Amino acid sequence: MEDVALRPKRLDDYVGQAPLKEKFRVYLDAARRRGDALDHVLLFGPPGLGKTTLAHIVAEELGVGIRVTSGPAIEKPGDLAAILTNAVQEGDVVFIDEIHRLGRAAEEHLYPAMEDFAIDLVLGQGPSARTLRLDLPRFTLIGATTRPGLITGPLRSRFGILEHLEYYRDEELAEGVARDASLLGFELDDDAALELGRRARGTMRIAKRLLRRVRDYAEVAGEARVTLERTRMALDELGIDAAGLDRRDRILLQAVVERFAGGPVGVGTLATAIGEDRATLEEVYEPFLIQRGLLQRTQRGRVATPAAYRHLGLPVPDGMGEPLFDASS
Ligand SMILES: Nc1ncnc2c1ncn2[C@@H]1O[C@H](COP(=O)(O)OP(=O)(O)OP(=O)(O)O)[C@@H](O)[C@H]1O
Ligand SMILES: [Mg+2]
Repeated sequence: MEDVALRPKRLDDYVGQAPLKEKFRVYLDAARRRGDALDHVLLFGPPGLGKTTLAHIVAEELGVGIRVTSGPAIEKPGDLAAILTNAVQEGDVVFIDEIHRLGRAAEEHLYPAMEDFAIDLVLGQGPSARTLRLDLPRFTLIGATTRPGLITGPLRSRFGILEHLEYYRDEELAEGVARDASLLGFELDDDAALELGRRARGTMRIAKRLLRRVRDYAEVAGEARVTLERTRMALDELGIDAAGLDRRDRILLQAVVERFAGGPVGVGTLATAIGEDRATLEEVYEPFLIQRGLLQRTQRGRVATPAAYRHLGLPVPDGMGEPLFDASS
């Protein structure tokens, strides 16, 4: 469970993501000066990096309201109309999480809403049906997605601001957990915070989750302070290794290496082999392993890198020199 009370409320409290924050300072300042709604924003990046948090911060910084919904909740045009005509005020933020999962028909109704701040309602059925154009307040749509590749061209082109969230550096994650520890009122040693940062897969949500688990271990051990030693012990116990890989990550790498001779192996086959669904594999596991240079996406499938063999403590096969050409970029 994530604690909403701990979620940063202002841009100043949002740790890391420095280039992104600088840009948002400018966008927010400009919108405030013009007294106009902020341009529509599309935020993309792997889960747990802070997209939802940033959307709330934008509303807070602008002093406007926020309406929260998600792609899967908006199947029909009527669902969209209900959201946009109900309680949305001039300048408000409408946040659509998982916007890549928006229904097709609803998406088409979103275009005029984004462009002209109007929505076309169809009244009645059959030959007597007519459309009614309804004006909307000037709102800011913030869409979030872990799968930017699934956003259609027409939708993407209607966003004025497209920003990518990056994985956090270890020090930034350490800063994030230190902040939570102090808000929760317990002592966390600096080196313990950094260790949490190192093992959190570059992901703020994971760092904060690990902090809570480590705190549990310290509490049970009757320790008032969370030390490096206790942190290491707890994380080892939880199966999080020194590079931040958890059991599932290692199972994935091991499958590529041992069952598919290092790859290439198709993503569907790999997902089945480890009993994971394909979307989770692609959105949750792979981005981090790829970013850390342990796995590669090639046209013929997933391939383990020499670093993966080394990480698993296995000899690197002969002839496996430089990483293969990466077809994903
Ligand atoms: N920059 C940050 N500074 C401090 N805390 C952060 C930051 N980014 C995220 N968090 C915290 O990390 C957790 C995850 O953030 P959030 O829910 O915004 O991620 P998300 O990108 O929306 O993830 P998902 O794609 O799964 O919806 C939250 O508890 C949030 O408060
Ligand atoms: Mg979110």
